[in-house]
Amino acid sequence: MLISEQGLAKTVLELTAPGKGILAADESVGTIEKRLKAVNVASTEEVRRNYRELLFSTPGLGGFISGVILFEETLKQKSADGVPLPELLKTQGIVPGIKVDQGTVLLPNFPGETVTQGLGGLAQRLSEYKQLGARFAKWRAVMHIGVGIPTPQAIASNAYALARYAAICQEQELVPIVEPEVLMDGDNTLATSARVTEDVLHAVFHALHQQRVALEYMILKPNMVEPGRTCQERATPQQVAQATLICLRRTVPAAVPGINFLSGGQTEATATANLQALNATAKKQPWVLSFSYGRALQASVLQAWSGEAANKSLAQQELYKRARLNSAATQGKYSATMESE
Ligand code: 13P
Repeated sequence: MLISEQGLAKTVLELTAPGKGILAADESVGTIEKRLKAVNVASTEEVRRNYRELLFSTPGLGGFISGVILFEETLKQKSADGVPLPELLKTQGIVPGIKVDQGTVLLPNFPGETVTQGLGGLAQRLSEYKQLGARFAKWRAVMHIGVGIPTPQAIASNAYALARYAAICQEQELVPIVEPEVLMDGDNTLATSARVTEDVLHAVFHALHQQRVALEYMILKPNMVEPGRTCQERATPQQVAQATLICLRRTVPAAVPGINFLSGGQTEATATANLQALNATAKKQPWVLSFSYGRALQASVLQAWSGEAANKSLAQQELYKRARLNSAATQGKYSATMESE
């Protein structure tokens, strides 16, 4: 093993702590602008700073959240009191991480498909992020389901980039979160989602092996296997859990310590119910099954806040509640009645 294992092992241990999950607060400038606009707030650097400070200073957050993924801008921002935001997270017992991909571009010769960019100069950027306090990283690949897609070429291109990224992270002593997201925004059935997700994860782990990535020191962030958003035939949390577990057992080696799902547009309550079903169904599995939610942890928070300083405490209570309920779901202790408690 050429990589230095000690720092990576410590970070993995903290990120996979029992009953805890990850908050994805790494929306790019464009994406956070959309989220803020939905609650009638204009996105300025100061507004984004205020909002992220509100999230990170939520009292007791560290009881349920092990790590937060930041956008580069946030990593360099300070709280109103002048504390760097990564430092603020550390005081909560939360590990700061950083989104390091540079978004998707169209894949030439493959209409409707994308590949994620950002490998150029990555080692140098990681070393700078590490100085600023980041201990783990995230790279998101996006696979689209449609007629004849994803193609094997698009899957292989994205898997290769994810694996190269993961190897570079480990070399720089940052734990890579490997996120191959199969989008669930079409009319595809549960069965199609299962087939595509299995193909994608199989390719990703093959590529990770080829790049000699140490699977012990990474986190997988996959989509759950569910029907596309406009598919008429819906699935219960139990059906989603069963299909997801079949897929994971076929493709994810036992060496991987943690699987932290993305929420991918599920409502807050659905994302929590699905995570509960996963942990209740999977009696014996080699990995920790937890969350790395963005929208499913922040939708109510944004609504409650709506850009008003006076709503800060109300908004923080919403985040605390979602974090607490998802924590319960990681232990198979969540039920829908807890939503109204
Ligand atoms: P969602 O949970 O909103 O899908 O976001 C997770 C994420 O980090 C996507 O990259």
